Amino acid sequence: MIDKGMLKQNSLTGKTVVITGGGTGLGKSMGQYFLELGANLVIASRKEDILNDTAKELMEQTGGIVLPVACDVRKYSEIENVLSAGREKFGEVNVLVNNAAGNFISPTERLSHKAFDVITDIVLKGSYNATLAFGKYWIKHQIKGTILNIVTTYAETGSGYVVPSALSKAGVIALTKSLASEWAKYDIRSNAIAPGPFPTEGAWTRLFPDIIADKIDPLKRIPLKRFGEHEELANLAAYLISDFSSFINGDIITIDGGESIYGAGEFNSLDNVPAEMWPQIEKMVRKKK
Ligand code: HXC
Ligand code: NAP
Repeated sequence: MIDKGMLKQNSLTGKTVVITGGGTGLGKSMGQYFLELGANLVIASRKEDILNDTAKELMEQTGGIVLPVACDVRKYSEIENVLSAGREKFGEVNVLVNNAAGNFISPTERLSHKAFDVITDIVLKGSYNATLAFGKYWIKHQIKGTILNIVTTYAETGSGYVVPSALSKAGVIALTKSLASEWAKYDIRSNAIAPGPFPTEGAWTRLFPDIIADKIDPLKRIPLKRFGEHEELANLAAYLISDFSSFINGDIITIDGGESIYGAGEFNSLDNVPAEMWPQIEKMVRKKK
């Protein structure tokens, strides 16, 4: 458990950060750390009561200022409203964290087209809506901007049972890389973080329900044999939105304890072979000269 932040005090002073989905889970944890580092914070999601509670809690904890704005990222006009509310309150908005998401496990053939729509609309459309609204504004007013997209490790490999999420996050990676090239001339950087499993109520209830706990143990797939700590993700995110990472643009940074490369290595499951079996295995294999 890391209880001290990585960056120096006031590393984010002068920045106003908008986090979509900032009322809960990883968005809330990132927001807390950004406030500790001196940023102003806008949190935006659908549930106003949760946003208000989080804003109050974070302000009490950190002494920073948080503006909660109800917003459905699927609606462009509501995103524009978040931007104007943030500018009105703080004078300027210069960082966007696309963190809002929807997801659940299901065999793909069980999904209705509306189930596909709901996930792709939140994740892909929500991310490009916010990116477009903020980007247009920054370009028009010649403001240096930073975009950080929260994706997933399976966006690059694909994954069964979360197909709408996988395809949407893959689109967000393409968005990140494309704009890192196109908008660099406007001093707008785009990067993404691909987290492995970090316990949150939102993810755990929809992806690892108790009823299948004996069938899927995500810990078994992680070489470091533990889940991520929210502070670890918050440290990486703070670095990527800070000026210390000014030359990082278009990168997708994985933070997963080695989970994704473990899954890719064909023989990594030999971890399950007990050490005492290796002399016997070696003997058998050596015989086959
Ligand atoms: C099949 C489902 C379903 C399920 C909903 N649907 N849940 N289909 N299995 N479990 C279908 C519905 O029947 C409906 O289609 C359509 O999807 C829309 O459902 P609604 O309930 O009307 O949608 P809504 O109320 O907008 O809720 C959106 C939601 C919900 C995505 C379904 O879960 C949500 O609000 N999620 C937000 C938070 C979240 O998901 N957090 C987890 C992020 S974790 P029909 O045809 O019936 O009308 C993450 C990390 C991954 O992304 C990596 C971890 C390691
Ligand atoms: P979470 O707490 O459920 O966060 C998702 C947030 O998105 C919620 O605050 C939700 O708030 C908001 N949201 C959903 N639909 C929205 C909409 N239409 N408009 C605006 N906001 C909306 O889950 P989390 O685990 O912290 O996930 C945060 C991010 O990390 C997501 O991008 C997720 O894909 C990513 N991630 C998480 C993990 C993990 O292990 N936890 C791993 C990889 C990637 P409302 O319901 O109020 O709208």
